[in-house]
Amino acid sequence: MKLVVTGGAGFIGSHFIRYILNNYPDYRVLNIDKLTYAGNIENIKDVENHPNYRFLKADICERGIEEAITDYDVVINFAAESHVDRSIQEPEAFLKTDVMGTFNLLEISRKKGIQRYIQISTDEVFGSADEGQMFYEESPLNPSSPYSASKAAADLLALSYYRTYKTPVIIIRSTNNYGPNQYPEKFIPLFITNAIEDKILPLYGDGKNVRDWLFVLDNCRGIDVILHRGKEGEIYNIAGGNEKENIFIAKKILEYLGKPDTLIKFVKDRPGHDRRYSISCEKIKRLGWQPIVSLEEGLKQTVGWYKNNEDWWKKIKNGEFLEYYRRYYEL
Ligand code: NAD
Ligand code: DAU
Repeated sequence: MKLVVTGGAGFIGSHFIRYILNNYPDYRVLNIDKLTYAGNIENIKDVENHPNYRFLKADICERGIEEAITDYDVVINFAAESHVDRSIQEPEAFLKTDVMGTFNLLEISRKKGIQRYIQISTDEVFGSADEGQMFYEESPLNPSSPYSASKAAADLLALSYYRTYKTPVIIIRSTNNYGPNQYPEKFIPLFITNAIEDKILPLYGDGKNVRDWLFVLDNCRGIDVILHRGKEGEIYNIAGGNEKENIFIAKKILEYLGKPDTLIKFVKDRPGHDRRYSISCEKIKRLGWQPIVSLEEGLKQTVGWYKNNEDWWKKIKNGEFLEYYRRYYEL
């Protein structure tokens, strides 16, 4: 199988490419990534000389990438602007990449007769879940942020390509991923790296917002199952089954690092902050998938990775991230 993976220098995409090359020795992968602030070639350095791997630095919005996508079977679109807080500050890039970039990839896939187009989406398109409420694949979309609205728009566009042109589209919506190589603007890596440096952990609002944590390799295994056994025109949710309040995760991180809870500082809430995400993943379970990494095991492994890879995140935190962090957190 020949796969085009977009956004493969980011967090989830880089784990997915490594997973595919390790598990399918005959598969070929073309990674198309613009290398935005979130893209990091270091994430995928270990496979750069793999005979079945090729990298193209390009924007998914460019029509010109069509030429490189000749003779491929599958397109898996991970490329996106992915951070909610940035979408609240500067939404335009989200519209460009998440909507127009998806549109460009769908057009190319349609013209090239791609056999499978997988759109990597998110549980955030359903919006906030009330207590006791759970969203299913067919639940209505109700996004809260420019990020989740742009992802919802991309999903609807992709589904329209299936209905109108029979482009073989599949949508995958997962819960919050965590693990090694996640950019330190996101909650778990921000809190781990701040705690290592004895800096405050800025917890939004009352700290009781709930997220369902999915270890990144369990997500990769789920995408693999859908790639091979999923049905075109369908949507599949992938959930970690670990719904926790943010304050619980913050305290666990401090416990694993042997740091005091006094590092936690309650700060101004995120505008439009979704209270809780909760999705059912019975549909993918019927294809034979289930998460295998417990939250405790995954979180300990993640904390260990950041402890052992200070060079990786210090380079980021002392670079582009520094200005963003000071501006955003008004430090
Ligand atoms: P990330 O921000 O770590 O990586 C995004 C990657 O896309 C980067 O390598 C970046 O350089 C690349 N990119 C951005 N704009 C591009 C463009 N115009 N052209 C080409 N490449 C571009 O993101 P992530 O956390 O790995 O998320 C990957 C996908 O999974 C996204 O589509 C996101 O919406 C979705 N998702 C993420 C999570 C999560 O918890 N991280 C959960 C559910 C869904
Ligand atoms: O649910 C899937 C989504 O998860 C993905 O689609 C997004 O790409 C990904 O960024 C993530 O979105 P969240 O907004 O849930 O993740 P984030 O890491 O930004 O925040 C997780 C929770 O932690 C959220 O309730 C906000 C809170 N938070 C976050 C930061 C960065 C804090 O309390 N303090 C912080 O400094």
